[in-house]
Amino acid sequence: MYLTREEERIYNGEYGEVLEVAMNLLVSLGEIYGAERLVEISSAQVSGVSYKTIGEEGLNFLKDISKGDVKVAVPTTLNPAGMDLSRYEELNFPRDFVERQLEIIECFKKIGVEIGCTCTPYLSGNVPIYGDHIAWAESSAVSYANSVIGARTNREGGPSALASALIGKTPLYGYHLDENRMPSYTVEVETELKDISHYGALGSLVGRIVKNEVPYFIFKSPISRDKYTKLKALGASLAASGGVALYHVEGITPECKMGRIEIDTSERISIGREDIEEEYYRLNTTEERPDLICIGCPHCSLGEIKEVVDFIVKNNLGRTGFKCDLWVCTCIHIKAIADRMGYTTIIERAGGKVVCDTCMVVAPIEEIGYRNVATNSGKAAVYLPNFCSSNVIFDSTWEVLKKGL
Ligand code: F3S
Repeated sequence: MYLTREEERIYNGEYGEVLEVAMNLLVSLGEIYGAERLVEISSAQVSGVSYKTIGEEGLNFLKDISKGDVKVAVPTTLNPAGMDLSRYEELNFPRDFVERQLEIIECFKKIGVEIGCTCTPYLSGNVPIYGDHIAWAESSAVSYANSVIGARTNREGGPSALASALIGKTPLYGYHLDENRMPSYTVEVETELKDISHYGALGSLVGRIVKNEVPYFIFKSPISRDKYTKLKALGASLAASGGVALYHVEGITPECKMGRIEIDTSERISIGREDIEEEYYRLNTTEERPDLICIGCPHCSLGEIKEVVDFIVKNNLGRTGFKCDLWVCTCIHIKAIADRMGYTTIIERAGGKVVCDTCMVVAPIEEIGYRNVATNSGKAAVYLPNFCSSNVIFDSTWEVLKKGL
């Protein structure tokens, strides 16, 4: 792989051990995947933040990296941590876990990473523009950035995203190159999808079929209202059940609109109403009542929080409240607006919590004691049984909230 003089100096350790390790990691990756060179990135998004996922080993690695005075070279944000960084006590997070999680956050802070822990960086200030090269790690954010924004990123792991953040570059291969952005499956969606859970179920089903290839969607009925929230849900579950990092939607996503996509018609999938219903059935693993309802995987937009508020107001829940716990997960930026709009107050008076910085998958909900989790998210429904040993109730936003009455 070609390196500039400056890159070679970093590679050889002239700027210290941390940058040397980071550059060596990027070069190794580039060589494995046949990259000709590195390319500058406009931002990074780093995963491996929750103590639940990285454990003691990850914490020690971050302590080593943050010992000196090395800082990230480009704007860098974090994936969700294992807890709400402000309200961990009232949410009953175990004390040991809290201590470790705060140490992890401190390490990231020292190297200049922004402590806005979210899987929706594009809703909270880390917003690439069309054609930007970036190095992002969270699979749902990768999918959104590649597909809906038209930026370019591979599905980075935590260490490679962090290495790119420190160097400001990533190896030029995979989804950074035009030829790898062409679709290999055409998916015709014959039925009308309304709730975001329908898009989650669609993603879960199609992801299982196409695995890590690039699907091209044709929706026979237009995506109604709040299009981008629905694409957020679709991309998240495509990435969770398969390994999809990029999809296109006819007439909507930018590369399609610009006529840059050549469609390969050899692999066609047709999805009807029964297929979505069957996927709902598959994702539900219990008929018991939930002890936790979770909305916000990926993290909620303001519109999704408003939907919870509408439910509470319509059902007059200010008086009675939910009969189980409710987490509405979002980023701190969106919560600030929800606070101002009065949404947080309405949700919390009804017994719910607007939870920041974390989610039902990367938080240790099994240690807190939750067993049956109701969610409107296809991605969460795919992950919860394995990551949290949870039983899952999967349904539309409205139906999921009704389970708490
Ligand atoms: Fe985000 Fe957690 Fe879902 S990181 S995409 S809310 S599993």
